[in-house]
Amino acid sequence: MSRGRFPAGGGVALAKHHVQNEMATRGVGMNRLRRLALLTSLAAYALVVLGGLVRGTGAGLACPDWPLCHGRIIPPLEPLVLIEWAHRLLASIVGLLVVVVAVVAYRSRRQWPQAVLPAFIALGLLVVQVVLGGLTVHLLLTPAIVVAHLATGMAFLASLLTTTVLATPAAQPGGTVSAGFRTLALITALSTYGLILLGGLVSSSGAGLACPDWPLCHGQLLPPPAGVAHLQFAHRLGALTVGVFILITALASRRQTPHLAKVAAATPGLLAGQILLGAINIWTRLAPVVTAAHLGLAAMLFAMLVVLVGRSFRTPLGAATSALPQPQGAR
Ligand code: HEM
Repeated sequence: MSRGRFPAGGGVALAKHHVQNEMATRGVGMNRLRRLALLTSLAAYALVVLGGLVRGTGAGLACPDWPLCHGRIIPPLEPLVLIEWAHRLLASIVGLLVVVVAVVAYRSRRQWPQAVLPAFIALGLLVVQVVLGGLTVHLLLTPAIVVAHLATGMAFLASLLTTTVLATPAAQPGGTVSAGFRTLALITALSTYGLILLGGLVSSSGAGLACPDWPLCHGQLLPPPAGVAHLQFAHRLGALTVGVFILITALASRRQTPHLAKVAAATPGLLAGQILLGAINIWTRLAPVVTAAHLGLAAMLFAMLVVLVGRSFRTPLGAATSALPQPQGAR
């Protein structure tokens, strides 16, 4: 180390320089990319919920023209028009933010090399989502397109959250995670993603009330063979399976680092709320605010699992400890 690079003044100046270097390397205190990606993730989350409200209330065509609404920048103050208008406005803001995230990720590529790919994936998914959104509203409201729109929306949210996690200094230096836990968290997140798409299929196929009761279906354990009740039934069965995975993951996380356990600890509560909202969907005969809340909580649960997976891949692998909870005294 060349002495001449440091100002005269000895140890204090040297220590200050070292701390500044350390902060720059770890991104502490100045991480613009992380803050931007987090803000964009939150806005994308709000957009998903608002999109659910647009669909639930049938507000999609409340603004018959585009880009204006009823030929005006500020539309008439009617509830459905305002919902659709707010959805469009937020979509434009999210669009702009994603472009900025991609540019900032590219410019910070030396500091956060892993965050560049998810940021650009988010940008690509945005383009796909805009095309699918147009098809959903204007051309074909087929289940396939509705599900594809939901799939892209959730993947978009996931890539923004991944950008955020990968632009964050790894917490708790020294902590390790087991390979089994990483796999378990990944399977739980992917199966929740699958269940969300199944939910989209239920609502777009008009199977929301195909089982008019809950937890049984037409008073039976198994759905009637005709109609679309099997979709509703599969959704409930899927929720049960995902629920088991979530509980196992939350339990297993307690054997990993505290920062992983903290994220995982939120998921059983979200799961319970989601199951309750599923039942309220049926009891209120699909009240729009309840279907939007069901979609919102689904996205929140998925988001937590994405963060858990991201953080577990950010934590170094440790000596193989089992990801599954073990009886007391087994260590
Ligand atoms: C982890 C558990 C669950 C997740 C992640 C989940 C997710 C979803 C999603 C994403 C949708 C589509 C919403 C939309 O397109 O706007 C949906 C629809 C639906 N879900 Fe669930 N769900 C879960 C559990 C349940 C349970 C236990 C029930 C119990 C009855 C249920 C009942 C429904 C109904 C009735 C719909 C159709 C709503 C409509 O037609 O708009 N869900 N679900």
